[in-house]
Amino acid sequence: MSTTAERRAVVSTPGATPDKDWVIVTRGLKREYDMGGEVVRALRGVDIAIRRNEYVAIMGPSGSGKSTLMNLIGCLDTPNGGEYWLNGMLVSKMSDDQLARVRNKEIGFVFQTFNLLPRATALHNVELPLVYAGVSSDERKRRAKAALAAVQLDNRMHHRPNELSGGQRQRVAIARALVNEPSILLADEPTGNLDSATSTEIMKVFEELASTGQTVIMVTHEPDIAAHARRVVVLRDGLVASDDKRATFKQQMGLP
Ligand SMILES: Nc1ncnc2c1ncn2[C@@H]1O[C@H](COP(=O)(O)OP(=O)(O)O)[C@@H](O)[C@H]1O
Ligand SMILES: [Mg+2]
Repeated sequence: MSTTAERRAVVSTPGATPDKDWVIVTRGLKREYDMGGEVVRALRGVDIAIRRNEYVAIMGPSGSGKSTLMNLIGCLDTPNGGEYWLNGMLVSKMSDDQLARVRNKEIGFVFQTFNLLPRATALHNVELPLVYAGVSSDERKRRAKAALAAVQLDNRMHHRPNELSGGQRQRVAIARALVNEPSILLADEPTGNLDSATSTEIMKVFEELASTGQTVIMVTHEPDIAAHARRVVVLRDGLVASDDKRATFKQQMGLP
């Protein structure tokens, strides 16, 4: 895991291309929304640096800017100010077309509401991103099976979503996010629709993926879910309020 000093060094040199090892660097990232004359400052200068293979939770109360930040990190939106570097590329200056290309290649999304095709089998749901990418059928099947195996669902690949439990559905969605081998797995409130036992099951999947080298960034408003990550960034009022390793975060929150 990166140290506080290393992170401080990389975020405090505007304009400098970060080393390859930094998968994400934001410097003074700003996003404002114009609400008919009234400006909402959702992000007011966010500095975050994340190394390859880190497992980070972004936590904060409702309205703190988590979704806004996740949309920027996921290349779904562009900032009004500051820099965003993804794998050494300055994405904050990219056109929409460039952004879409980078997003498809680099980011695997997992959402609260699994977003699976109800009539398609688990295998077909996982194959879909590869259909859009123009990958051949044999290669698609091979890679989709491998992604399902990575989430321990290879024994359910011919089931449809309504034949799967909530946890199994979310694991299909995780496999689909992984099938393009993205550099980042980005999850927005991934346990928001799951009971606590199933949430623990999904946290085990993330832990397993992180321990095999996948960079994982999870957005959540729940401290006990955030505490599963190895590092927790807390947002408050559009700024980073704290950025600590798990043990420190748990201590501060009074979690066991
Ligand atoms: N599309 C939008 N238009 C206007 N204001 C927005 C928009 N999205 C978010 N906001 C505002 O920006 C702030 C941060 O919101 P958000 O990023 O959704 O926070 P969180 O995900 O932590 O709840 C809030 O004040 C919210 O009302
Ligand atoms: Mg949100």
